[in-house]
Amino acid sequence: MFYKIDEKPMAEDLHIDNGSKEEKYNVLLPQLRSLIIGEEDLIANLANIAAALKETFRFFWVGFYLVKGEELVLGPFQGPIACTRIRKGRGVCGTAWEKVRTLIIPNVDLFPGHIACSTLSRSEIVVPLVHENGSVWGILDVDSKNLNDFDDTDAYFLEEVCSWL
Ligand code: SME
Repeated sequence: MFYKIDEKPMAEDLHIDNGSKEEKYNVLLPQLRSLIIGEEDLIANLANIAAALKETFRFFWVGFYLVKGEELVLGPFQGPIACTRIRKGRGVCGTAWEKVRTLIIPNVDLFPGHIACSTLSRSEIVVPLVHENGSVWGILDVDSKNLNDFDDTDAYFLEEVCSWL
């Protein structure tokens, strides 16, 4: 489904129940793009992206952390309450920030220093949000209750979403 720039999807349009993961991303991304295009408020856009990803894929937790000084501070998210501050280099999020690259963690228990905001989270993907000058200004974190839930398909599409911000 494609939208003209001035047509915003309704919440019901974001119920994508059929298809492979790749097919779902391919339907969702144009909807998300039209939802945030023309809206310059960052928090509003981060909030809608988190909600759309959570609704579409039923992930356990989807959210953003934003760089403030030497820490990541919790931003808009969907899911259970989470840790509010993460230092650079700590956990999966702080490591993705430090290394400036996407991290796919098939089993969080095997990641040294993983920060468990919930014992239910089993696998995770973290995508850094990067300025044009290469500095990181935040991260997108997606958690699943299933082991090994994320792969290069998620990395590809989530990096695409993050490149819009
Ligand atoms: N597990 C993350 C912390 C954030 S929560 O999962 C929401 C980490 O290790 O950085």
